Amino acid sequence: MSQINVGIIGFGTVGAGTFEVLTTNREIITDRVGAEVVVKKIADIDIESDRGVPVRPATEILTVDAMDLIDDPEIDLIVELMGGLDKAKEFILKAMENGKHVVTANKALLAEYGAEIYRAAEQHGVGLALEASVGGGIPIIGALKNGLSGNRIQTCVGILNGTSNYILTKMTQEGLPFNRVVDEAVSLGFAEDPPTLDVDGTDAAHKLAIIISIAFGSPVSFKDIYREGIVDVTPDDIRFADEFGYRIKLLAIAKDLGDRLEARVNAAMIPKDHILANVNEAFNAIYIEGDFVGPNLYYGLGAGRRPTGSAVVADIIGLAREIRSGAKELMPPLAHVRPRANKIVIQPIEDLITPYYFRFSALDTPGVLSRIAGILSEYGISISSVIQKGRKTKGPVSIVMLTHEARESAAQKAILSIDELDVVAEKTVVIRVEGNQL
Ligand code: HSE
Repeated sequence: MSQINVGIIGFGTVGAGTFEVLTTNREIITDRVGAEVVVKKIADIDIESDRGVPVRPATEILTVDAMDLIDDPEIDLIVELMGGLDKAKEFILKAMENGKHVVTANKALLAEYGAEIYRAAEQHGVGLALEASVGGGIPIIGALKNGLSGNRIQTCVGILNGTSNYILTKMTQEGLPFNRVVDEAVSLGFAEDPPTLDVDGTDAAHKLAIIISIAFGSPVSFKDIYREGIVDVTPDDIRFADEFGYRIKLLAIAKDLGDRLEARVNAAMIPKDHILANVNEAFNAIYIEGDFVGPNLYYGLGAGRRPTGSAVVADIIGLAREIRSGAKELMPPLAHVRPRANKIVIQPIEDLITPYYFRFSALDTPGVLSRIAGILSEYGISISSVIQKGRKTKGPVSIVMLTHEARESAAQKAILSIDELDVVAEKTVVIRVEGNQL
C-alpha cells in the first residue's frame, strides 16, 4: 500500500494542528511510514472558518457529515478530535465496525467508556491509538507501551493538568488568591470559562485512568479514582508550604501496592527540590518509576494545537506503519496481548498512608496547642513540625503542622473532632504531603 488515507472528525484546535503537522512534515512522514499519509476528508460542523492552514481542494476534503468519512471505503484510519461523549463514541464504534483504525485524543471518552471501546477495537481487529489523550505532546503513552514495556510500573506521579499548574504557579509566584488568578487566566484565554473540570481534578483523573489502564493492563474508569482539586488552596497554605520546604501541585498519583493500586488526584505538597516541584506554568510532567529502569521523567506542553497535533500524528504514523506492513495482529489498545487476569483493585482513600499538612485556625489562648495535639495523639497521629505565627490582628491565628505518616481515616476523624473544639474558629485545611517516598 503506497498511500494511507485518513479522515479527521473535528477541525478545531487539535484537528487543525494535526492537519498542519501532516502537511508541513509530509516528506519526512512519508519516509518514516514508507507510504504517503493523505488526509482524504475532514468533517466539522463549521467548514467555513479559516483555521490558518490551507485545505485544498476544500470542496472535496471538507464535509459537515462525519458519516462521509466513516462510510468511505477508501479511508483506512479515522482520527476523532471532536470531543464530547455520546456522538464521539458512536462515530468511533461505527468506524471500527467498518474496519477502520482509530486515533483519538478524547480523554473523557476513554476514561469513561474505555473498556467498551478497547473491546470493540479488538473484536473488529483494528488499531486504536490514544497518545494525545494524555499530556498533549508528551509521548508518555508511547513510553509506557514501548520504552518501559520490560518493567513493572511501580509509581506514576503526574502534573497532568496545565490549567491548574498555571494557576498554582501564579498563586505561588505572585501571592494571589485562587479566584483572582482564575479570572485573569480566563480573561487572557489561558483557561476555560469556567475551568471547572480542570481545577476540580476531573481532567487529571481522566488522564490518570488512561495511564493506569495502559501501565497495568486493564481498563479503569476515572470514577473509581478519588479526586480533589485546587479550589481550596490559599496563598497562606502556599506560604506555609514554602516555610516547610514544599510547593503545592495538583498531582495525579498511581502506586502499585502489590494486591491493590493507590490511585488519586489531589493538591499535594512536594519537596521544593523535587523535579516535579519545578514544573511550572502550563507545563505537564509525568514521573514514572519502573522496577528495572528506576526513575524516569517526561516533561512538555500538555495542550495546544502544535504539541497535541504532534501526538496525534505520532499515532497516525504508528498505525500507518502497521497498516502498510500488513501486520496480521495489531497491538491491542492497552498494549497487553493477554488481558490481565484480575481486575485492578483501587485502594479506598481511607486506607491511604501518607504524611499530612494541617492548618488550624484557632484562638490564641493557653492550652490550644495541647488540646489539638492531644486529639491527634488519640488517633495515633504523630507531629513532625509545627509553626505558629504571632498574632498581628485580633482573632484566630494559624497553627500549622506537618505530621509523620498517618492513615487517612485517622486523619479525617481527628480533624472532625478538632473542628468541634470551641477554640477552633474555622474548618481545618488538610493537604497531603508527598514526602521522601517520591
Ligand atoms: N484542559 C487541559 C489542561 C488541556 O489544562 O491541561 C488538555 O487536556
